[in-house]
Amino acid sequence: MIALEINGTRYQVDINPEVPLLWVLRNHLRLTGTKYGCGIGECGCCTVHVDGRAERSCMIPAGKVEGRRITTIEGLSENHPLKKAWLEVQVPQCGYCQPGQIMQAAALLGENPDPNDEEIGRAMSGNLCRCGTYPRILRAIRKAAGGRGMP
Ligand code: FES
Ligand code: FES
Repeated sequence: MIALEINGTRYQVDINPEVPLLWVLRNHLRLTGTKYGCGIGECGCCTVHVDGRAERSCMIPAGKVEGRRITTIEGLSENHPLKKAWLEVQVPQCGYCQPGQIMQAAALLGENPDPNDEEIGRAMSGNLCRCGTYPRILRAIRKAAGGRGMP
């Protein structure tokens, strides 16, 4: 049995502590906003926050994050500037990668509220989008960071 704090709620989950956090979220707790892409830490689809930092949930054994503060896309406020900017810019195409993109961007703005384009590019470089929404992701992050979204 492991104890997890996710989006401010404490859960007791009867699971092997080596199971990746991603599968605990999706299969045991039905928090399906976090997506499975590659399963090897290469795509960013599964990004969540652990104590405010962006982490790949496919690569973290659930037992390793006991006692840590985990936030998923479901736990990010609907009023978060990034969620609003994503809607205003109409970022998604298929949408699959977008929860991970938003969580990665939210961690960036948590550390650096006004990043320049280079800093945004560096922070987001590990989050892949097969639909190629990168220009809109950049605009939405700029917009959330201070109304600089529109060229
Ligand atoms: S599913 Fe975790 S990085 Fe791709
Ligand atoms: S919106 Fe389709 S993979 Fe990113």
